[in-house]
Order: sequence, then structure tokens, then C-alpha cells
Amino acid sequence: MREIKILFVVIFFTAVVYWGVEPFAHSQMHPHVAPADFKFSDLPRKTRQGDSTLGATQFMDAGCIGCHGLKSQGMEAPMDAVTASETFGVVPPDLSTAGVLYDENFLAELIKNPTHALKVEHKFNETKLHPMTPFYGLGGDIEEEVANIIAYLQSIAPTDVSKEIVYEDACQRCHDLKYANRYSASEDEPLAKYMGTTPPDLSMMIRAKGAEYLETFINNPQKHLPGTSMPRVGLTQDSQEKVISYLEEVGDRKKAEREALGPKVLGFMIIFTILAYLWKIKIWREVH
Ligand code: HEC
Ligand code: HEC
Repeated sequence: MREIKILFVVIFFTAVVYWGVEPFAHSQMHPHVAPADFKFSDLPRKTRQGDSTLGATQFMDAGCIGCHGLKSQGMEAPMDAVTASETFGVVPPDLSTAGVLYDENFLAELIKNPTHALKVEHKFNETKLHPMTPFYGLGGDIEEEVANIIAYLQSIAPTDVSKEIVYEDACQRCHDLKYANRYSASEDEPLAKYMGTTPPDLSMMIRAKGAEYLETFINNPQKHLPGTSMPRVGLTQDSQEKVISYLEEVGDRKKAEREALGPKVLGFMIIFTILAYLWKIKIWREVH
């Protein structure tokens, strides 16, 4: 009977720590933030449908390829990485996958008003210009032109993009990922100057911060680091899941193995507890 009482005392205190103390400590160290918003509800809605054929010419006229490459359509980046880094601070990403990577309401705002979509208005203004120039329209209805350009980017985007490509097109212009032998496309010095800090290597991020943190952080960096220079990247939920899964694959290769070990260790302990108990009964029986 005494053992049972002790067992309940142990269970009680374990439960208090597990459900009371740990979650409280967690909430203090990682303050709760609203869940990721893949609708980008703070931005105006894109109301037009867009025509990809018109978009093809309007995309060219809008001058996007003055800065960006579009490799899938045979258009290489207009500058090499060194020149681009020196000109913009960062190498503008290739747009071959942009139509599938990014949310379309986000894209619509990005094209017209980059600093607003990227949430970097605190870093850029009329005197300190953002390197991506806003699109002011081609003389017609700007909403329609933007919708056409997006329809074009969507029409040329591959339907199934790999995790690696999502990472490459959305993150690699700033971050290293040394465990996967990936290095930022931009030159270190201009990038650090542009960002005001060196973007960290992402190899161990999944273990340092956890998937839950990354889910809200990537969707909106300002939620966790108010005033940070990392832009909101505008990934769709699907693309973001791919990036996180890729970071998991690179940084936490042993996760599946580790998790599979848990039940085995528990099973081992339960069997040995039973054996120890039976043994104890046997010994005491002989003593009495
Ligand atoms: C004057 C150069 C310039 C022009 C013109 C330009 N961009 Fe950009 N664009 C950039 C730079 C630089 C970045 C990277 C900014 C950063 O990461 O801080 C960028 C980023 C982007 C991104 C990635 C945004 C994200 O969320 O990660 C997309 C998509 C994009 N541009 C689309 C376009 C489209 C479409 C056009 C034409 C309507 C265009 N850009 C015109 C320079 C330009
Ligand atoms: C235009 C450059 C740029 C792009 C693109 C970019 N980042 Fe960052 N990122 C930064 C900078 C700069 C920091 C450092 C922020 C700080 O300390 O304020 C950072 C920090 C981070 C951090 C650390 C957060 C923390 O709490 O310390 C993570 C994780 C991260 N980025 C993930 C990503 C992922 C994933 C992508 C692609 C989907 C991405 N970043 C795209 C510039 C960028």
C-alpha cells in the first residue's frame, strides 16, 4: 500500500511540472503570438482575374527583368551576383517559381508597394529607397495590369516545386545553409550593409527555435522580432511547409530515429518495472 501512495505522490508532482510549470515557463520565454496568417489579411485583396497572355507582354514592359532573371523562359539574370549585390545589397531572386511560391494578394501589393508587402516600411522611405522600385502602371488600369502580370507568372510556374527550390528562391539570397552546402547568393558585405546585420546560417535553426516558432516567424518576422530587417516573404502555406520540412531534413536528420526510440524505451521500462515488482513480492514472501 505504501508503494502505491508513493507512486501517486510522484505522479502528482510530475503532472504539476508537466502541465503547470513547463507550459508557464514556455509562455514566459516564448510569448504567444497569433497564428500564421496565410491570407495576408492586412493587405488589400486582389479583385481582378488577370489574363496571362496580356501579362506576358506587360511583364516585359513593366521592367521586372531589368533586375530579375526568369530562367525557365530563357532569361538569365541581367547582372552577375557581385554587381547585383553592389547595386541592390541583395541578389534579386529568379522569378520562374514566383507564381506558385507566393500568395497572390501578397504579390499584388509587392508589385505596387514593395515596402508595405514586405513589412519593411520602418527601414525604407523617400530618402532611403527600397531597391525594388514600385510598379506605377503602364497607362491603363493598374489593378488589371498587376493581375495580368501575376496571371502570367502563375501560368509559367511549375506545378510541383521541390523543397530545395522553394528554399533557393525564397531564402537563399540572404541566408547560408552550411549543413546542405548552400551559401547565400549575395556578397557578404553589401548584404550585411543592406540588412544592417548578417542574416544567420539556418542549418541549426530548426533545433534552436523549433518548427512552431518558424511557422509564425517566416509568415511574419515582425511578430517575433519587432523592427527586424528580415522582410515578410509572402510564402503560401504549402511553400512554407516545404521550407520548414527542408530545414528539418537538413538540421535535424535524426528526428525520426529519435522519436521512434521513445516508445521502445518506455516499453523497456514498463517490462522491467513489472519484473522488479514480481521479484520484490517473491523476496518478501520468502522473508515472512
Ligand atoms: C530595380 C530592381 C527591381 C525591379 C524593377 C523589380 N524588382 Fe523585384 N526585387 C528586387 C530586389 C532587390 C528584391 C529583393 C528584395 C529583398 O529581398 O529585400 C526583389 C524581390 C522580388 C520578389 C521576392 C519577394 C519576396 O517576397 O521574397 C518578387 C516576387 C519580385 N521581386 C517580383 C518583381 C516583379 C513581378 C517585378 C516587376 C513588376 C519586379 N520584381 C521588379 C528588385 C527589383
Ligand atoms: C532579404 C533577406 C532575407 C530573406 C529573403 C530571408 N531572410 Fe531570414 N533573416 C534575414 C535577416 C537579416 C535576419 C536577422 C534578423 C534579425 O536579427 O533582426 C534573418 C533571420 C532569420 C531567422 C532567425 C530568427 C530569429 O529569431 O533569430 C530565421 C529562422 C530566418 N531568417 C528564416 C528565413 C527563411 C526560412 C527564409 C525564406 C523563406 C528567409 N529567412 C528569408 C534576412 C532574410
